[in-house]
Amino acid sequence: MRRLALRLAILEATRTLEQAGVESARTDAELIAAHVLDVERGRLPLIPLVDPPVVEAIRDLVARRARRVPLQYLLGHAAMGGITVEVGAGVFVPRPETELLLDWGLRLIAERRYPVVVDLCTGSGALALAAAHARPDAVVYALDNDPDALGWARHNADARVREGDTPIRLYSGDVADPSVFAELDGLVDLVLCNPPYVPEGTAVPPEVAEFDPPAAVFAAGGGLDVIRDVVAMATRLLRPGGGMAIEHDDTHARTVPPLLLARSVLTDVTEHTDLAGRPRFVTARRV
Ligand SMILES: C[S@@+](CC[C@H](N)C(=O)[O-])C[C@H]1O[C@@H](n2cnc3c(N)ncnc32)[C@H](O)[C@@H]1O
Repeated sequence: MRRLALRLAILEATRTLEQAGVESARTDAELIAAHVLDVERGRLPLIPLVDPPVVEAIRDLVARRARRVPLQYLLGHAAMGGITVEVGAGVFVPRPETELLLDWGLRLIAERRYPVVVDLCTGSGALALAAAHARPDAVVYALDNDPDALGWARHNADARVREGDTPIRLYSGDVADPSVFAELDGLVDLVLCNPPYVPEGTAVPPEVAEFDPPAAVFAAGGGLDVIRDVVAMATRLLRPGGGMAIEHDDTHARTVPPLLLARSVLTDVTEHTDLAGRPRFVTARRV
């Protein structure tokens, strides 16, 4: 069997993905190759030649990615903090920018022992499970209203427990319901939330339009309706000195911070940008 140059296979994959309009073509091509070869992406340069079946496997996955199937569906997992979670049909794919929210939150609770953390709109459980992984002493609660998402979150939570992480407490409920987590009122150190926030009617890439559940992406009221409920719930849950971090649309830099500033018990309301410099999340602390 004549062995083939991996470098050329990756080049071909990159071109295919570029032609399909995939923004991160080179990165995706390398991640697919690394997945097929079951190695870290950084080790690819150490593999000059591969067998033809490897090239075929790369081409198959690249063809699906070119049809705009999310990369994480093809890899079977998405990264968040120090962990990966499994994702697929029926659940929102965690995005790299959401790690910024996690980092902010983990810094806030760095000096607190046995912190109570709540992840609202948990989806696959990514934020909650990453927090539990980073802070084994934390008591972590997670909430979602979608049974499919909760199925993925349960699956991921069980996998993390098998890896030795502290179990999280997973709940079905709506952030609009004022009775949800009533027993935690005034006791929570950190609320994290990546809610649906894209204004209805916004054009989104095929990966989002065809694969992310619409209720995980879009929100009514210019994208603000779920965020309003989240701000109300987070304000109720936080203990004095506790903090919240809420992700939002890049068009929300002037509309979301005022929702927090309007609450007299919140202080240090701060708007944050993502790695591309776009407005991405807001934080505040409870006085
Ligand atoms: C953008 S996804 C975020 C998932 C996860 N936090 C992440 O970052 O990958 C939003 C999630 O909020 C859930 N959701 C939408 N509306 C909700 C509501 N009113 N109450 C609770 N969860 C809700 C959706 O089911 C979805 O899983």
